[in-house]
Amino acid sequence: MDTEYRLARDEDLPAMRMVQGLALRDLAARMGTDAASMPLDDQPTPPMRYLRRTAPALSWVAVHEGRVMGFSQGFVRGDLWFLSNLFVHPELQKGGTGAALLRRCLEAGTRRGAAVRAVCSSPELAAQALYARHGMIPRFPLFALQGRAQALRALPAPRMRVVQAASTNFWLGRIGPLDQFVWGRRRDADHRFAHRELNVGCLANLGDDGSVAGYVYHHAGQLGPLCARTPRMQLELLHAAGAALAQSDKNIRIWVPGINGAALVALLEAGFRILFSNLLMASRRFGRFDRYLPSGGTLL
Ligand SMILES: CC(C)(COP(=O)(O)OP(=O)(O)OC[C@H]1O[C@@H](n2cnc3c(N)ncnc32)[C@H](O)[C@@H]1OP(=O)(O)O)[C@@H](O)C(=O)NCCC(=O)NCCS
Repeated sequence: MDTEYRLARDEDLPAMRMVQGLALRDLAARMGTDAASMPLDDQPTPPMRYLRRTAPALSWVAVHEGRVMGFSQGFVRGDLWFLSNLFVHPELQKGGTGAALLRRCLEAGTRRGAAVRAVCSSPELAAQALYARHGMIPRFPLFALQGRAQALRALPAPRMRVVQAASTNFWLGRIGPLDQFVWGRRRDADHRFAHRELNVGCLANLGDDGSVAGYVYHHAGQLGPLCARTPRMQLELLHAAGAALAQSDKNIRIWVPGINGAALVALLEAGFRILFSNLLMASRRFGRFDRYLPSGGTLL
């Protein structure tokens, strides 16, 4: 029976989440890692909902024999198209479904004027081959690090004023130029989403002239995105976020680009461990990832 490709609807989200869990468990088993530790449920993540709602033309499902068996999701910011999700049910893999989903999401991005294509790939070789064949080549590894919030206190303390930031026009107006400088484009909608729909805190480094020189998002289990005007300032923001999180002293996860030497070396020296590594693939170099720590591979 043929596979039908159509735009994803809100009611597809639980099935999409299940496909994601099954595909990741299958990949983990093939790689000899602990498959049972991967979440498997039908509760869509907030970023999945956010992408479906805000970029509906870039959310696709593959329906086979009446069931959602694969999906792709992406977004466009300025001239950047980013592929956030690509998953195919293990029973339907190796039949062209992944390529068809990727192509539809990419075409929607190209129609919106995107010139740069990028993705954070899992270690799945089929995925990396697909991305390379669509013009995205490896740029750097993206390490998932884990360690104690308290350990961040060993990093240099902030020299500038650190304050709580919000998603008000006041803050977005000051954060925008920094995003433009570090990330290459503004992302006001992502800031609003983080503040309003995720239970996060956000600290900002304020210069004497009132400009924002850096910011870091934090919540119980994770730190990032972190964006700083200089590589060293990242360490000061990590220190500040560590102090904000230290009461819980749970393990926290931080995503670190392999080319971000300042953060990578400092975190490893502070006792953080590399859990696993993904791969940033892109059609062109973009952004200043020597002073940026992403939130992960979905929203970057
Ligand atoms: C990545 C994924 C979505 C691909 O879906 P799929 O339906 O199997 O993909 P397709 O069949 O359309 O395409 C895979 C292509 O990679 C090729 N391929 C597979 N392994 C390869 C390898 N080691 N080297 C080169 N090419 C390879 C296949 O030959 C195929 O190309 P072809 O159709 O021209 O022969 C699927 O494997 C998956 O869900 N994996 C687990 C989750 C994951 O890692 N997702 C990526 C997140 S970034």
